[in-house]
Amino acid sequence: MSRMLTNLLGWVDARFPLTKMWEEHLSKYYAPKNFNFWYFFGSLALLVLVIQIVTGIFLTMHYKPDAELAFGSVEYIMRDVDWGWLIRYIHSTGASAFFVVVYLHMFRALMYGSYKTPRELIWLFGMFIYLCLMAEAFMGYLLPWGQMSYWGAQVIVNLFGAIPGFGPDLALWIRGDYVISDATLNRFFSLHVIAMPLVLLMLVVGHILALHEVGSNNPDGVEIKKNKGPDGNPVDGIPFHPYYSVKDIAGVVVFLFVFSMVIFYAPEMGGYFLEHANFIPADPLTTPEHIAPVWYFTPFYTVLRAVPDPFLGVIAMGAAVGILFVLPWIDRNPIKSIRYRSTLHKINLMVFAIVFIILGILGTKPATSLLGELAVRFSEVYFLFFFVLWYGNKSRSSKYSLVYFIVLLGAISFYDLVRFDPGNANLIVTGWLIPAVYLAVMLLLPLFTKLNAEQPVPERVTA
Ligand code: HEM
Repeated sequence: MSRMLTNLLGWVDARFPLTKMWEEHLSKYYAPKNFNFWYFFGSLALLVLVIQIVTGIFLTMHYKPDAELAFGSVEYIMRDVDWGWLIRYIHSTGASAFFVVVYLHMFRALMYGSYKTPRELIWLFGMFIYLCLMAEAFMGYLLPWGQMSYWGAQVIVNLFGAIPGFGPDLALWIRGDYVISDATLNRFFSLHVIAMPLVLLMLVVGHILALHEVGSNNPDGVEIKKNKGPDGNPVDGIPFHPYYSVKDIAGVVVFLFVFSMVIFYAPEMGGYFLEHANFIPADPLTTPEHIAPVWYFTPFYTVLRAVPDPFLGVIAMGAAVGILFVLPWIDRNPIKSIRYRSTLHKINLMVFAIVFIILGILGTKPATSLLGELAVRFSEVYFLFFFVLWYGNKSRSSKYSLVYFIVLLGAISFYDLVRFDPGNANLIVTGWLIPAVYLAVMLLLPLFTKLNAEQPVPERVTA
């Protein structure tokens, strides 16, 4: 480094902890040496966050938050603003990419038990980020003022109206009007452009500070800080910079390649990233034939639709998200990584991922009686997953397994009796098999097999 630069750095360091922060968080931050593919998604989420903020700033320069002008201003960006189409497609694709990356990031945490002691706060920060991201995406979706923007917002805000007592007043307060209108567009614009991004940024800082306080978990679920060398650094750790900064750049290149392919060749992604009905200006007098939220909300939308009563539906949907907040206290099995947990746990996690995807697909389709029944059954399995997770905290006696099996299946069957419809009898009886088989595999199979046997966790990381 030239002398001038060294002097400048010394001058800054005497006034601001620049080198100290660089060392603490990058060059002397020791991360486990066995990070794998799944560890790319945190840094990718950071990248998408930056992309969304930068493209958002440029979109805001040309967008008009006015019910009369909004739709036209987006068309103007797409056709007349230099490179406007690119900036808009980066931003709209970025919204979906954010959820792809974050869902994979969350799944990694589930696989390696990264939410367990001492990382509960990292997880909680993550969950608040996830909530904030959902609010940010929902409000952003109103801004183009297309048919789906308008009616999607109408449906979701009306959900708040389903809360007994103060619900209707709350919905009115959110909209600022009796229907979605210019007032709603203005406030959603303000929240989308400044309030939510600020909160999101603060939460991400908290997320990373919490992570750097306790250190990263890894695919073996071994605490590397417990094994320090004579230099005081973890023997199974390597400095984040340059090792992981370089590795993450490789991930960024692959990500940007796929991201660009979508932007240039399939920005609407067959109606999943940009819904077809949103190319028609909002019309408060014409309801679209089929209203569906964007793909990343659809698993929870299915849970909402699976319950006939609107208020109970809102509760079920809230519970589906809310239960994730308490995950660290549900899964208290001392083994963190899926590698050393039982075969049954591995199956359970795979089933959960598949069920989440099925719920997502169901949420994009118009409700028929078959799909409605599947929605109920897979929602049941979604919630049962958390029970089974808790159940796997320690080994249970066969008597307990049998009792829990009977009680849970009894509760499901009782609900079936309550909602029984002779016209749909076949569907309900066949559908019953889905949670029944799931519970039988998870609770009864271990009575006859060794599928719930766990493996010893190594002292040191394995690769
Ligand atoms: C804007 C969104 C997010 C950003 C920028 C972000 C960023 C990061 C980064 C950079 C890391 C360290 C690298 C890595 O482990 O991949 C990390 C770790 C982690 N994140 Fe996130 N994250 C986000 C959202 C979430 C969400 C929604 C959750 C879960 C609800 C979550 C849970 C975790 C956990 C548990 C870890 C520790 C993982 C381990 O040590 O194994 N994050 N995050």
